This record gives sequence, structure tokens and C-alpha cells, in this order.
Amino acid sequence: MTLTPEMLTEEFHRRFGQRPEGIWAAPGRVNVIGEHTDYNDGFVLPFAIDRATLVAASVREDSTVRVSSTFSDGDVVVAELDGLAAGDVEGWAAYPVGVLWALREAGHPVRGMDLLIDSQVPVGAGLSSSAAIECAVAVAANELFAVGLAGPDLALIGQRAENEMVGAPTGLMDQSASLLGKKGHAVFLDCRSRETELVPLPLQDEGLALLVIDTRVSHAHATGGYAARRRACEVGADVMGVPALRDLSEADLEEASGLLDDETFRRVRHVVTENTRVQEAVELLRAEGPRAIAPLLDSSHVSMRDDFEISCPELDLAVDSSRGAGALGARMTGGGFGGSAIALTQIEDIERVGAAVLEAFAEAGFTEPVIFAVSPADGAARFS
Ligand code: GLA
Repeated sequence: MTLTPEMLTEEFHRRFGQRPEGIWAAPGRVNVIGEHTDYNDGFVLPFAIDRATLVAASVREDSTVRVSSTFSDGDVVVAELDGLAAGDVEGWAAYPVGVLWALREAGHPVRGMDLLIDSQVPVGAGLSSSAAIECAVAVAANELFAVGLAGPDLALIGQRAENEMVGAPTGLMDQSASLLGKKGHAVFLDCRSRETELVPLPLQDEGLALLVIDTRVSHAHATGGYAARRRACEVGADVMGVPALRDLSEADLEEASGLLDDETFRRVRHVVTENTRVQEAVELLRAEGPRAIAPLLDSSHVSMRDDFEISCPELDLAVDSSRGAGALGARMTGGGFGGSAIALTQIEDIERVGAAVLEAFAEAGFTEPVIFAVSPADGAARFS
């Protein structure tokens, strides 16, 4: 459900018996390029999308958190911050409560809150609806408790909530995009130094659009493939004697192929080549604009499909059918195993590409995907 701020305020009143002190918004993200590089101390290039999660919030005098959402049947989840430990909260409430917990763990003077969350970021589509919740709550608490953290530090708080309260071993990309995004720009993040640069991404001015193709295949990062890929990367770095795969270059791959088993080697090769692709994409964007990065999107997808093995038939079909209908470049985006693909498309081809993808999915007997354009938007902020 998507509520207007007035409706959200009214709903907050209905559920918590008072008006909120304000509403904060945080966007979801797509990643242009740089997948599974963040937890390898590497480079990523996401942007904040023009779909946000809103949180209406007010502070409490005690240390109780009451959290409710428009996507969970009117339930109110109640958690007590005093004595709360990592992993204590289950389900979607672990994201907002985890943020308040992480702020307290870091020594900040945070008390309880009443929170009502409304998400325009499709849940489970690989567009970081969870990071959007974390970042909306983080900016609300940062302001209401006068914590005074800047965006990059709030991103770490969100990541800690996700790693320790939710139990998903994810990197820093999603929260950074949601907090640091800027209209018309992508966020180039060095995940080791945590330095960011905004890189212009003038899609519309160049007659381009970025289509999201949500395959509606759900993915879960707390378990399974994501964690296994992360472990393989750690093993690869260990055997190669480097702190992180970031420290390997393409020149090291030959040696790596002799030292690693075939599967680990391919995991490593994806990360090493993907880091190069991100840096190339940034240079090309600056020198020539967004059209020039299309071939890198394609090679990134091939690397994820064949080396990192995180694609799935639906994502491959989204990429192949959009490319076949004239998209300039396409790749899966996010953690993989489902979620969304992105296709860089000329504006005049949007309908043709969309129709071709729908038809290909129907022919394959797959669930109908949801297709929409996104553009780079501003990061998390107070909304009203
Ligand atoms: C998920 C994680 C991110 C990142 C991507 C893959 O979105 O939350 O930290 O690892 O997968 O690039």
C-alpha cells in the first residue's frame, strides 16, 4: 500500500493514539554495476531510486519500541531495547528495531520510539526495501535523538542492524545508496575507505531510461547462496594471502587458477573482473555518458551467470529478451537468486522492450514480471 503523508499521519494516530513528530523517507536502490564486491572491500556504483519508504515516528520516554507497517495487517510489534541482544527480534521488525539497537550499541542516547512504516519500494524485488526501512528509521532517530551522525556512519549502523539483528551477512552498498544518493547521480563507493563520489548519470537528457524487470522470484539473503558466496570469497582471499579480494588484480588470476579449485577460482574471477568493470564504468560515465557503459552491463551479467552463479532462469530471460528487443545493455542487479534485472534502454524503445519481456516470460510459463523505469533520486531525508 502507498499512503499520502496525511494518510500516514492519520494511520499513525489510529494505531498509536497520538500524532507523529514527523515523517522521514529513504529510497530503495538499484546497482548500476559492482555486484558482490562490497563485502570484498571493492567498488560499487548504485543509485537511490525514485521510490521510497516512509516512516512516521515519535520518541517515547521509555525504552520500548512499537513498530507497525502498512504491509503487515495492522500488527504492532513491541520490543524492549533494554537488554535486547543481536538476533532477538524476528521478521521484518528486526530491521527497524535493529537500527535503534545498533545506535545504542554504538553508545548513542537512543530511547524507545513509535514507528509506522509504509513502503513504496517493492518488497523482495532486490531493490533494497530492507535498507530503505533501516535508513528511514536511522535518519528519524538521528534527528529526534540529536545523535548527529553523518550519512556514511548511519550506513554502518544500518549494516550492523542487518548483519547482527537480522542475521544477513550483507555489505555496505544498499544503505550507502539509500543515504547518500543524489538526484541525477550514481554513488561510486569504495567499500574499503568508505569514500564516495557522486557520478552524473543523466539518463533522460541522453534519451535513455533504466528499466527494472522484477522477476518476482523471491530471494533471501539471511541464508543459502549469498552467505555461501561470501564464504567462497573469504576462502579465495585467504589462499591468495590477501586481506580481501579487492587486493587482487586481473594479473593475479593466472596464479589464482593454479592455487584454487575451479569453483572458488570462478567466484574470485567474478569479483576481480567486476571491480575492474566498476572503475571502467565510472571513467566511461564521466568521459562519454551513460550509453557507453552498456557493454559493461552485459559482461557483468555473464560473469554473474557463469562465474559467480547467482542468476536464475528468470533473470537470464529478462536480460536476454530485453537485449533481443533492443535494450542497449542489461544485467541482474542486487544479491541474485531472484529479484530484479535492469535494462538500459532508449526512451523510444521502452514499450517494445517491455512487451518483448512480458511475451518471453509468458511463453516460458514464468510468473508475469513487473516492469518499470527508475531514475536516480535524492537519498534519505526528513519528508515532513
Ligand atoms: C545485496 C547486499 C549488498 C550487496 C549485494 C550484491 O543487495 O545487501 O550488500 O552485497 O547484495 O552486490
